[in-house]
Amino acid sequence: MEPSRWRRWPQVFNRWRYNLYAPVYDRLAQAFAARRRRSIALLNPQPEERILLVAAGTGLDLDFMVRCRHLVAIDISDGMLARLRAHAATLGMEVDARVMDAQALEFADASFDAVVLHLALAVVPDPRACIREVERVLKPGGRVAVFDKFLHDDQRPSLLRSAGNLLSRVIATDINRRLADILAACRLRKVHDEDAGLGGFFRIAILRK
Ligand SMILES: C[S@@+](CC[C@H](N)C(=O)[O-])C[C@H]1O[C@@H](n2cnc3c(N)ncnc32)[C@H](O)[C@@H]1O
Repeated sequence: MEPSRWRRWPQVFNRWRYNLYAPVYDRLAQAFAARRRRSIALLNPQPEERILLVAAGTGLDLDFMVRCRHLVAIDISDGMLARLRAHAATLGMEVDARVMDAQALEFADASFDAVVLHLALAVVPDPRACIREVERVLKPGGRVAVFDKFLHDDQRPSLLRSAGNLLSRVIATDINRRLADILAACRLRKVHDEDAGLGGFFRIAILRK
């Protein structure tokens, strides 16, 4: 295989597996509704703001953003985005939904007021590339809502957990990432951080440019 194909393999795999998961995703992810509501309430998106949902999936966050009129959603999986478009239509919302890699956003610098990063940083192959792209497309003063699973900043994964992660990252999500390591790749400031369940394994954080 050519080197460029090797580099694209993680994106190809994620597209394939999320296209496979798309029909059942909402049933599995409904459990996070209260955390989504909380994270978006902290982000406080305004109707006239331009907002980007990165790795937007089937659009479960849209339920809490119905007043927002300038929404752009990107995801690597066309199957997930097809469901997002259908969900937006049932809510009477217009969303510009595009297939795109979260690690190489096809938007101009400083083109969004706010970004939603829910259950994304633990799934994209290179979360540091993703956060740098989010920083680039945010306007100065722009905000980011993060909701995801992270190790505590000073926590080292146990051997058992490292072994479990070999399987978890293939079928679901990486369980051994630290938000501090990811944020070290950019200059976004963490202005809020709270426990969102399972003893702080789930976290909600608000970042500002
Ligand atoms: C756990 S789901 C989260 C979806 C949604 N944000 C939510 O909160 O329900 C992870 C999403 O990341 C997407 N994804 C994985 N790798 C990606 C990439 N490189 N670029 C964009 N999206 C990606 C998947 O297709 C999937 O929709």
